[in-house]
Amino acid sequence: MKLIKFCTMAVAFTMSAQVIHAQSLPPLKVGMMLPYSGTYAALGNAIDNGFQLYVKELGGKIAGREITYVRVDDESEPSKATDNINKLIKRDNVDVVIGTVHSGVAMAMAKVAKDTGTMLIIPNAGANAITGPLCAKNIFRSSFTNGQPGYAMGEVAAKKGYKTAMTITWNYAAGEESVKGFQEGFEKGGGKVTKMLNLPFPGVEFQALLTEVAAAKPDIVYSFFAGGGAVKFVKDYASAGLNKSIPLVGPGFLTDGTLEGQGEAAQGMLTSLHYGDNLNTKRDNEFRLAYAKQFKLQPDVYAVQGYDAAQMLTIGLVATKGDISKKDEFAKAVVAAKIDSPRGPFTISKAHNPIQDFYLRQVVGKENKVIGIASKSLADSARGCNM
Ligand code: BEZ
Repeated sequence: MKLIKFCTMAVAFTMSAQVIHAQSLPPLKVGMMLPYSGTYAALGNAIDNGFQLYVKELGGKIAGREITYVRVDDESEPSKATDNINKLIKRDNVDVVIGTVHSGVAMAMAKVAKDTGTMLIIPNAGANAITGPLCAKNIFRSSFTNGQPGYAMGEVAAKKGYKTAMTITWNYAAGEESVKGFQEGFEKGGGKVTKMLNLPFPGVEFQALLTEVAAAKPDIVYSFFAGGGAVKFVKDYASAGLNKSIPLVGPGFLTDGTLEGQGEAAQGMLTSLHYGDNLNTKRDNEFRLAYAKQFKLQPDVYAVQGYDAAQMLTIGLVATKGDISKKDEFAKAVVAAKIDSPRGPFTISKAHNPIQDFYLRQVVGKENKVIGIASKSLADSARGCNM
């Protein structure tokens, strides 16, 4: 009896000590470095919304710490990225940086985070290098690696019997790595990528490239575009009449968060991604309802990635009792966790990238309907990561 009382007192003491410890910590300063303008503006805003939604569900605090935000519009501009993140770290003294969408900007951010040891959670940009040579114990990704959805789509296209493909994308890391992923999956299945076309980011002058496709007549076209560029590309492809004879496929970014603008032009398109609009799980339905209620918008993959970035931050901070400087403990907790995402549960690899299912989706009306699994539990290669 006495022992039980002693134990109860001891637990109560430890818990109140923890609460006092958490309460004595200052607010956690979160630096949101995202595109709030330009072709990726909608993606940046959705990530920010998703992050805020999870924090709201926690009552506004993570591991007992109030959250304050400092926001920077990175404009998807790699040349400004180093200055922008340095300002957040050195001038604004943020505890953690959440960002960004564009792979070129994210690579510059990862270099600074690695050098300064600042905690960085990347809620979209899929650059291979981030979970490859740039990997670090303080850098995490809640999204994907660029080659993953492309690889999954390449496998599907080959299984469907298509023999030749052309690719069209922006010539920066995300586009290049996405089409390489597609090529790998497609050629492994017996197909052949006959030509890879590209244009500078964020250009939308697609006409000359579409004329080349019309002349070459491949069986299929695979494209990486996202945000405003994806809306224009899918519409131009249909206006050129190409969608009638040469199916256009892509990673899900081509049709996620864009269907309102693409309308009829996107109908029937197949894409692969780690999220879809009709998962119809309790977890996703609750998320979608809460998101729509708060922001008067339907969520998309970017909103989910922002939400899960906040979940990953919470898992790490709870394990360290709110102390973000304990990087080893933080990382250990995140890698050991099963993240309860609206996309479906996923885990984080040793290189800090999600290991997750990629769905095959088809556009029906205003939805990217999940029609199957394109690739199960896909992990990235983490080539060059030494941690
Ligand atoms: C990227 O730059 O990594 C990216 C941008 C938009 C959608 C997906 C990936």
